[in-house]
Amino acid sequence: MRKHIVAGNWKMNTTVPEGVELAKAVVAKAAEVPSDVKLIIAPPFTHLAPVAEVVKGTAVGLSAQNCADKTKGAYTGEVSVDMLKSVSCEYTILGHSERRQYYGETDAKLVEKIHLALAAGLSPIFCIGENLDEREAGKHFDVVTEQIKNVLYTLTPEEMANVIVAYEPVWAIGTGKTATAEQAQEIHACCRKVLAEKFGALAEEITILYGGSCKPSNAKELFAQPDIDGGLIGGAALKAEDFIGIATSF
Ligand code: 13P
Repeated sequence: MRKHIVAGNWKMNTTVPEGVELAKAVVAKAAEVPSDVKLIIAPPFTHLAPVAEVVKGTAVGLSAQNCADKTKGAYTGEVSVDMLKSVSCEYTILGHSERRQYYGETDAKLVEKIHLALAAGLSPIFCIGENLDEREAGKHFDVVTEQIKNVLYTLTPEEMANVIVAYEPVWAIGTGKTATAEQAQEIHACCRKVLAEKFGALAEEITILYGGSCKPSNAKELFAQPDIDGGLIGGAALKAEDFIGIATSF
């Protein structure tokens, strides 16, 4: 039985006091979520230490949105995996399309980051997905296959067992345009098949999340698909009610 996960990527939203309030609201509502659904929140770096205090001892997990590709030293503006561990982070998002698109993150960089994260004991939430041009050219299966091969194929099965995959079609992120349940399912199944080619039966155990304009009104249909194990939520994670509404949609 694969783990069901609903993770909230807050992106560059909320001040620290607002973020602490949002985390408290999520914790207050977490009891509404079935115990087989794991809730994770991913606030900005500045919020991690105070939010860690809020989620301490609760079922809500704490994730970063990124980590450095170096362990320590003269890398101005970067945040290391050890720093994340020191504020009780358990997860980190890696390879979000916004990092790839606006900050030039390549698969090669992501290989370095994912190995550092895993070595530090963080579970990466590794994002993949095609943009609109690639989708319209019918290349979406090739794009996600290549992203998986370039990065996840460098892992051992023991390492891969600690990775969560998130399929996020770039054209669906923040656009209000969700992939249909059918479109999402066929690509999730493809991802699992590509993972199985390298990792065998382990692929059946790997949680693959859908992300891109997921909200309470469409989560049920998406989560009913056999290969969709939950969601990576952006905009709707900024309201505790919507976030919990999604997490109760299984
Ligand atoms: P939206 O839910 O705002 O479309 O964002 C999805 C996302 O990018 C989560 O990482």
